[in-house]
Amino acid sequence: MPEVLRAEGVSVRFGGVTAVNRVDLKLEDKQILGLIGPNGAGKTTFFNAVSGFVFPDEGRVVMFGRDVTREPPYKRARKGMGRTFQTERPFEELTVLENVLIPAFLKHPSRRDAERLAREVLAEVGLGERADQPAMDLNLARRRRLELARALALEPKILFLDEIMAGLNPPALREMINLVRQLRDRGLAILMVEHIMEAIIELCDHVIVLASGEKIAEGTPQQVINDSRVVEAYLGTD
Ligand SMILES: Nc1ncnc2c1ncn2[C@@H]1O[C@H](COP(=O)(O)OP(=O)(O)OP(=O)(O)O)[C@@H](O)[C@H]1O
Ligand SMILES: [Mg+2]
Repeated sequence: MPEVLRAEGVSVRFGGVTAVNRVDLKLEDKQILGLIGPNGAGKTTFFNAVSGFVFPDEGRVVMFGRDVTREPPYKRARKGMGRTFQTERPFEELTVLENVLIPAFLKHPSRRDAERLAREVLAEVGLGERADQPAMDLNLARRRRLELARALALEPKILFLDEIMAGLNPPALREMINLVRQLRDRGLAILMVEHIMEAIIELCDHVIVLASGEKIAEGTPQQVINDSRVVEAYLGTD
């Protein structure tokens, strides 16, 4: 499997706090990689360092064989990276379609092409029928799908998902798990930060566990949930 993304020895410090300490990651084509760990473990910070929303103090990030360590997110987006945000913030007054048109315009300057793409991704996430509703009318599960559609409108090859399952009720969780699997099956490489273990176990090929900024374990979902260091890290803080 060809490698699409690699992080080597990535560290991020905030003043005296080392939020992420020399963490590595490798993501291959059509792979789902999970990033888990207790609160404050450094997941979001690592995720931001790999996606370009913070620059690491040490280490490097390589996308499709190119060093992107110092590239801002919009440049990485052009190279094939899309992400969702933990707290989704759609433009509430705009319609669902308009929200997706904004990222779609980044690669498709013509309104016709951008709209075709936007409608395609809305259909893919199951919001095709709601294109003309204002974003503020969507419930939580649909807001998450809209957030996902906005990332997909960048036509990424690598997709970063930050806790898109959190707070969903069981049927909505099931639909979201199926949707993520479907995205992987159509060729996306996915990195997901997720607290919902059911989703991690069902979806991930490989899982990295962070605690206090360090990688404390990695392997298949079964391997990491049976790892005594992982159990200890969760029981020790939560
Ligand atoms: N912008 C910042 N400035 C200072 N410290 C920060 C900043 N962002 C994160 N931190 C600190 O870095 C550490 C890691 O935080 P981070 O948000 O990455 O953890 P997390 O694993 O995503 O946690 P959670 O599960 O609660 O979302 C924490 O000690 C946090 O207080
Ligand atoms: Mg976080």
